[in-house]
Amino acid sequence: MSDRKGIILAGGSGTRLYPITMGVSKQILPIYDKPMIYYPLSVLMLAGIREIAVITTPEDQAQFQRFMGDGNQWGLEFTWIEQPSPDGLAQAYLLAEEFLDGSPSLMVLGDNLFFGHGLPEILARADAKPEGGTVFGYRVADPERYGVVDFDEDGQVRAIVEKPDMPPSSFAVTGLYALDGTAPEKAARVTPSERNELEITALLEQYLAEDKLTVEVMGRGYAWLDTGTHESLLDAGNFVRTLQQRQGLQMGSPDEIAFNMGWISRADLEKRAKLFGKNDYGRYLLGLQ
Ligand code: TTP
Repeated sequence: MSDRKGIILAGGSGTRLYPITMGVSKQILPIYDKPMIYYPLSVLMLAGIREIAVITTPEDQAQFQRFMGDGNQWGLEFTWIEQPSPDGLAQAYLLAEEFLDGSPSLMVLGDNLFFGHGLPEILARADAKPEGGTVFGYRVADPERYGVVDFDEDGQVRAIVEKPDMPPSSFAVTGLYALDGTAPEKAARVTPSERNELEITALLEQYLAEDKLTVEVMGRGYAWLDTGTHESLLDAGNFVRTLQQRQGLQMGSPDEIAFNMGWISRADLEKRAKLFGKNDYGRYLLGLQ
């Protein structure tokens, strides 16, 4: 059990998904059979985290709460935090400072999906580091769209470059950040970038300057999907559908993870399954041993 606290950053404006996200938060949209936010939430749960701050826009918060509540149905404890305007990823640590109260954290972006054998193990490795930060590098075909890791000859991180014209490597930094308790004070030192955002890269640079940043590479056996465009949203849905139908296993089910972790009882699980009695998800939950 981790003493790390979790953060899901689920605000933003989702302009690339307009007109859909003119009326609904991106992170509520379906990825095949579940709301998008279930998937990043599952990652935090697999890391053994039960105290989670969910950061949303002020307008969307009530809608998230309608289907997520206080987290008790999954043995979790949610703290709901509003981000008045999307001023950048590093701002999450300022908004969550009181919630974190000096604890280390694992933050995941609400529109990022991770899947792969051994995910709990690499999360545990990051969790075991009491000091510093760990981010996860993933090979992509289009690194120029992301924060990119610059490795030196020994494979150590030299820099992280935000959306470079000439990417120094093919490894993008994914939307999952395991940082120690100094993240909020470091975030307070970040000044707005040219696009007027508090960039996560500027926060990570401070860990790098202290020689306290680790990049864990997620190899080719992992899937890291982001869902910010119409194409990637549909691709992610198809990925989940294909995998679930082939294996008969659910991806990104907080109900299943909570039950497997022993955070909810069988009676709790059955109560949840009844809500979904008309579909495969409900039948799946009832069949869990
Ligand atoms: P982005 O995809 O960079 O931004 P966005 O979701 O607003 O979408 P678009 O580019 O189409 O306008 O954000 C990545 C994730 O981080 C996404 O889940 C939204 C979230 N986010 C916040 O919650 N607050 C912020 O200030 C920013 C920049 C992003």
